[in-house]
Amino acid sequence: MASHAVTSGQKPHVVCIPFPAQGHINPMLKVAKLLYARGFHVTFVNTNYNHNRLIRSRGPNSLDGLPSFRFESIPDGLPEENKDVMQDVPTLCESTMKNCLAPFKELLRRINTTKDVPPVSCIVSDGVMSFTLDAAEELGVPDVLFWTPSACGFLAYLHFYRFIEKGLSPIKDESSLDTKINWIPSMKNLGLKDIPSFIRATNTEDIMLNFFVHEADRAKRASAIILNTFDSLEHDVVRSIHSIIPQVYTIGPLHLFVNRDIDEESDIGQIGTNMWREEMECLDWLDTKSPNSVVYVNFGSITVMSAKQLVEFAWGLAATKKDFLWVIRPDLVAGDVPMLPPDFLIETANRRMLASWCPQEKVLSHPAVGGFLTHSGWNSTLESLSGGVPMVCWPFFAEQQTNYKYCCDEWEVGMEIGGDVRREEVEELVRELMDGDKGKKMRQKAEEWQRLAEEATKPIYGSSELNFQMVVDKVLLGE
Ligand code: UDX
Repeated sequence: MASHAVTSGQKPHVVCIPFPAQGHINPMLKVAKLLYARGFHVTFVNTNYNHNRLIRSRGPNSLDGLPSFRFESIPDGLPEENKDVMQDVPTLCESTMKNCLAPFKELLRRINTTKDVPPVSCIVSDGVMSFTLDAAEELGVPDVLFWTPSACGFLAYLHFYRFIEKGLSPIKDESSLDTKINWIPSMKNLGLKDIPSFIRATNTEDIMLNFFVHEADRAKRASAIILNTFDSLEHDVVRSIHSIIPQVYTIGPLHLFVNRDIDEESDIGQIGTNMWREEMECLDWLDTKSPNSVVYVNFGSITVMSAKQLVEFAWGLAATKKDFLWVIRPDLVAGDVPMLPPDFLIETANRRMLASWCPQEKVLSHPAVGGFLTHSGWNSTLESLSGGVPMVCWPFFAEQQTNYKYCCDEWEVGMEIGGDVRREEVEELVRELMDGDKGKKMRQKAEEWQRLAEEATKPIYGSSELNFQMVVDKVLLGE
């Protein structure tokens, strides 16, 4: 393969551009840091909205970067606002798809005419920011698409167009969610309800349905697809993707690579992109607890619930009598400030820690954490598996539905709470998770996955290690 604009003496220059949401920015930052550690000059591109939000939450110098790790931003096409909430997902998807190509091309042009900066030699873009393919083709550089969901989620997205062809989406009514889906190679025992939630569109104009059909189709044009998973976890699914897109590589769990290769105290290790302050006190609190004794509760960066659901979770947790660490984002309750019942606060005062945001990767690898009540976001799932922690799953949207299904049926590390949360069910499942026979089996299984995740990221011969090196050498450097 020909070399892409890298001349001797110059660093290769990668432009990394995540989809503008926390669960996408975090894993992309990991890829960017790993490439930096391998000698790349990195430009990390946020949207103006998130760039400003990060500066407000992390401080005025937080995105100054380093001489060879620069932050840039482009408009997302929506009216400029200074808010600290996640933007509406469908509006954002539609806008980035329609409006980001022109400013992105302009940014590349500006970078390439800046003195003392090596020319852009490759792009790593979020899988759902596929407009970058047009810019990369124009520039004559490779574009690696990073699909941040699970491989099982991605495989389902690749088949979205067939759900439409088969008349399964838009859905006719709620009862059609029970329809068996047994025609996606390697995916067994799924119902329509286990397919990423956007399949539940009710009309053909639905933004998210059309968005994923469009983005999944364009994935085939990428120089390579990278997935934050590991072969032993999703082997059959990855083979199935491979038959559609041969240039697919599993390179996860990324956080294990970052922990291994990047000193947390170094300048690059210190760069962060969390929109909320991580409350490190959670770790001190966990240090006082015995192994596997704490229930960790966190619903990620986008999930919203009703005030009633929050209260049901609260009383369910209280009834377990277990210690718990519960992260409640300021915007967790739709349209309201999250309010916990005063009696609940009094009753659980000695055995709980509440926070707005925590250092989750560290929490999930802390020996005190024995179970995770989660929304089944892919990063959370992978961090839980890598920490050997079993889960109770309350999927909210997107491919979380597919993740939870695989957690329960394939990986045997999860149990589901029904969408309409009831305190009795929360109590029963959390008790089972922490102390029951099923919970014990799930913990053993999670520890097995933890071992396999570590194996995948072992130096020299780990499957993800080999794949990552291959993507760097063959695709990004074109050697
Ligand atoms: C969601 C989905 O879950 C994901 O699967 C989908 O493709 C995109 O949107 P999110 O809600 O952000 O993402 O969940 P998740 O994928 O689990 O990512 C959350 C990230 O934030 C994780 O990396 C987690 O470690 C981090 N986090 C979360 C913290 O650092 N602290 C917290 O308190 C909560």
